[in-house]
Parts: sequence; C-alpha cells; structure tokens
Amino acid sequence: MDLGVNGNVFGGRILAWLDEAGSIYAFKLIGPVVLLKISEVLFKTPVRERDIIDILGAVKDVGMTSISIEMDVIKVQTKEMICTCEAKFVHIDEKGNKVPIPEERREMIKKQCGVS
Ligand SMILES: CC(C)(COP(=O)(O)OP(=O)(O)OC[C@H]1O[C@@H](n2cnc3c(N)ncnc32)[C@H](O)[C@@H]1OP(=O)(O)O)[C@@H](O)C(=O)NCCC(=O)NCCS
Repeated sequence: MDLGVNGNVFGGRILAWLDEAGSIYAFKLIGPVVLLKISEVLFKTPVRERDIIDILGAVKDVGMTSISIEMDVIKVQTKEMICTCEAKFVHIDEKGNKVPIPEERREMIKKQCGVS
C-alpha cells in the first residue's frame, strides 16, 4: 500500500522512488552505484491517488568516485512541485568497494551536463 489513512502517498515511498530513479540515472552514466547521501526533503504538496508524477534529474557534480544528482518531483496534471532533493551516489565494484569514475567518463559527463 502506497497511501496513508489520509489518502496521501507516504513520504517514505517517494524517497524510495527518488532512490530508485536516481540510482538508475547514475547507473546509466557511470555504472554500478550505491546511495551515499540524500539531502533534506520537504513535502509541501501532497500526492494522492490518480496523481501522476514525473521525477526529473540533473547532474550537479561529478567527483573522483561520486556523482550528485538533483531531482525534482512534479505533479504532471498541475505542474506543482512536490519536492526536490540532491542525492549523492558512489561508483562501486562488484564487492561494493568505491572505485574511481574513469577520467574520460567524468569529463564527458561534465561536458554534456554543463558541470564545472
Ligand atoms: C558508499 C561507500 C562505498 C563509500 O565508501 P567510503 O570509504 O565511505 O568512501 P569515502 O568516504 O572515501 O567517500 C566516497 C565519496 O563520497 C564523498 N563523501 C563521503 N562522505 C561524504 C559526506 N558526508 N558528504 C558528502 N560527500 C561525502 C567523498 O567526497 C567521496 O566522493 P569523491 O570521491 O567524488 O570526492 C560506503 O560508505 C558504503 O558502502 N556505504 C553504504 C552505501 C549503501 O549501502 N547505501 C544504501 C543504503 S544502506
């Protein structure tokens, strides 16, 4: 069940979707990742049954092993902002240890995403 007794989607469910969406975006850019950190998330507008939401992501920073992605959750029908956050993912190997993002990949992402 995604809805609480008041009919609003659980905030934790939206956090899980942010984790999932951000991980997929980061994976497509740099390969396997884990979530290291997520910023404060403020829910100012409720999401209810039949609402459709978009999660829009943009790369904010690329480090030696990490990538930071800003995500906006938007209600499609009304264009209202549900919440926004920044999540940091770390590139890992098959054992779960951090590994550097290859330099050429880092440079390509910076160029494509306008990150300095
Ligand atoms: C992610 C993980 C592999 C990183 O390993 P680590 O040895 O702790 O790595 P480091 O402390 O060297 O930091 C790795 C990167 O995170 C950044 N970082 C570390 N602590 C940070 C903090 N408090 N705030 C922001 N960035 C931070 C570092 O700057 C570094 O980025 P960079 O290489 O791009 O500069 C490890 O902490 C881990 O496995 N965490 C659990 C992840 C997980 O399971 N998440 C799902 C929820 S349980």
